[in-house]
Amino acid sequence: MTVKINQLEIENVKRIKAVKIDPEEKGLTIIGGNNNQGKTSVLDSIAWALGGDKNRPSNAMRDGSLVPPNLKVTLSNGIIVERKGKNSSLKVTDPLGKKGGQMLLDSFIEQLALNLPKFMNSTSKEKANILLQIIGVGEQLAQYQKEENELYQERLTVGRIADQKQKFAKEQIEYPEAPKDLISPQELIHQQQAILAQNGENQRKRQKVTQYEYQVSTLTEEVVRLKQLLANKENELNQATADLALAKTDVLDLIDQSTEELEKNLAQIEEINCKVRANLDKEKAEEDARQYKAQYDALTNRLNDVRENKLKLLNSANLPLPGLSVEDGELTYNGKKWDSMSGSEQLRVSTAIVRKLNPECGFVLLDKLEQMDLNTLKEFNTWLDQEGLQCIATRVSTGDECSIIIEDGYSSTPLPKTEEKVSTWKAGEF
Ligand SMILES: Nc1ncnc2c1ncn2[C@@H]1O[C@H](COP(=O)(O)OP(=O)(O)O)[C@@H](O)[C@H]1O
Ligand SMILES: [Mg+2]
Repeated sequence: MTVKINQLEIENVKRIKAVKIDPEEKGLTIIGGNNNQGKTSVLDSIAWALGGDKNRPSNAMRDGSLVPPNLKVTLSNGIIVERKGKNSSLKVTDPLGKKGGQMLLDSFIEQLALNLPKFMNSTSKEKANILLQIIGVGEQLAQYQKEENELYQERLTVGRIADQKQKFAKEQIEYPEAPKDLISPQELIHQQQAILAQNGENQRKRQKVTQYEYQVSTLTEEVVRLKQLLANKENELNQATADLALAKTDVLDLIDQSTEELEKNLAQIEEINCKVRANLDKEKAEEDARQYKAQYDALTNRLNDVRENKLKLLNSANLPLPGLSVEDGELTYNGKKWDSMSGSEQLRVSTAIVRKLNPECGFVLLDKLEQMDLNTLKEFNTWLDQEGLQCIATRVSTGDECSIIIEDGYSSTPLPKTEEKVSTWKAGEF
């Protein structure tokens, strides 16, 4: 059962002389009034009565009062909390008349409900931590967050390299007309050597001709000179003549080939290879860039997976308010961080979270609601109503939205009758 405040009776606390309030069972109860009339003193009194001595105001007794503070809070579970007497000692009485103490109150009173601004003014990280503490998935979420951050960093690095590589590849010169592979001069050198060898062989054959020519001439001379040896030598001559004829036919079809073209090609090889190397470099750079791009894409997929897991985890958790989440360790509501939420969203988020901290505590206290316009108040009130939550708030105003007006430390219901007026502004016809 959630505990609410049924009735408040306060005397001589801070600015208060005598105040009696019957708060609405759910939704907003606005304590109105001008400045310095005692509105905040009402909330301070409740916090002191229910939250223990650590919430005692430094100057608790009203200046000029002859009697000590007197506080009485009647709760919906039947428990009556009182502070009275010289020492303002605490008295907690349960419906059966048994006495209890602060321990009993602490079991259903949430400190942050007595001091909602303390939650609202905490950092986004502190708020997120409180939320995680409530929904109990903090460890798993932190793991996902860590993974997400690591993947993000890794992808960032790879992405930068991928960009650089691509830029580098783009800057490389390209020669579309150059062959695909590097040319080897070896083949041409082989061809050249074969030709030179063939030419050498030709030369040898030519020398043979010369040799036979010499022989014929010598022998002819000898034939003249040595007529007597003519007969002997005639055979030789005939033979030599025959050889000569043969050798001559042998050289008849010989053609020497030119190596000029090959020499030219050899000279061009280096020039061509320069271009081939440039093309290979460019291809390598492009491949590099492609690989890094693929790595980047793979990391993007993994990052998305982790983000999805994180979301699933949060969605599966029992959230105090649908739409709450934790991103980068910060509390978010419908994707918005704290400073991007509207005033009523901030109120709703804080109330919902603080409420979950101790589900038995069915009320929150809120000071200085004058920061909120009536529309915002109405929106907040509707939500409180739906949630069955009670909120006792102060507001510098004497308007119809107030359930009670505090003036010079006294409470009075605003005129004309509150009930109608409050329901009117709540219905939005103000
Ligand atoms: N013990 C006290 N006795 C009398 N007046 C006090 C005491 N403590 C504070 N005040 C005065 O109460 C006023 C503020 O009261 P508060 O409840 O905060 O008013 P409100 O919220 O309506 O502006 C200040 O003028 C302050 O000086
Ligand atoms: Mg005030």
